[in-house]
Amino acid sequence: MTQKGYIPAMKFHWLTPVYDPVLKWGMKENKFKTHLVQQGNVKPCQRILDLACGTGTLTLMLKQAQGEAEIVGLDADPEILAIAKNKAVQNKMDIEFQQGMSTDLPFPDNDPGSYPRYSS
Ligand SMILES: C[S@@+](CC[C@H](N)C(=O)[O-])C[C@H]1O[C@@H](n2cnc3c(N)ncnc32)[C@H](O)[C@@H]1O
Repeated sequence: MTQKGYIPAMKFHWLTPVYDPVLKWGMKENKFKTHLVQQGNVKPCQRILDLACGTGTLTLMLKQAQGEAEIVGLDADPEILAIAKNKAVQNKMDIEFQQGMSTDLPFPDNDPGSYPRYSS
């Protein structure tokens, strides 16, 4: 755990730029994330929170699968969020990315209408 209360994706910030290549080439990322998206079966009216979204690969895939759903990516690390935001811009995708901690979500409690949720 860092002083800021979270562990960066690759443990050390200096390794963050290689997160995507490592996942892509070393962990069959596309295969398992494609399965996740299929299982999620996101509907147009749904609001989805990708908690600890990292570089936003899954966030983008969810939006690609269901363009009419509202997809929000949240991560504690501003450096990795910058990568995620850039990927959304490059792909011309309207995705909201927010910085925040999983332990202190910037969404109201107990208000199903006000925070993104993941349900099938
Ligand atoms: C291993 S990466 C996974 C990223 C992404 N979900 C993926 O599948 O590629 C873990 C992410 O969790 C974030 N993280 C760790 N602790 C967190 C916390 N308490 N709140 C929000 N994000 C956190 C890190 O910044 C990192 O981007």
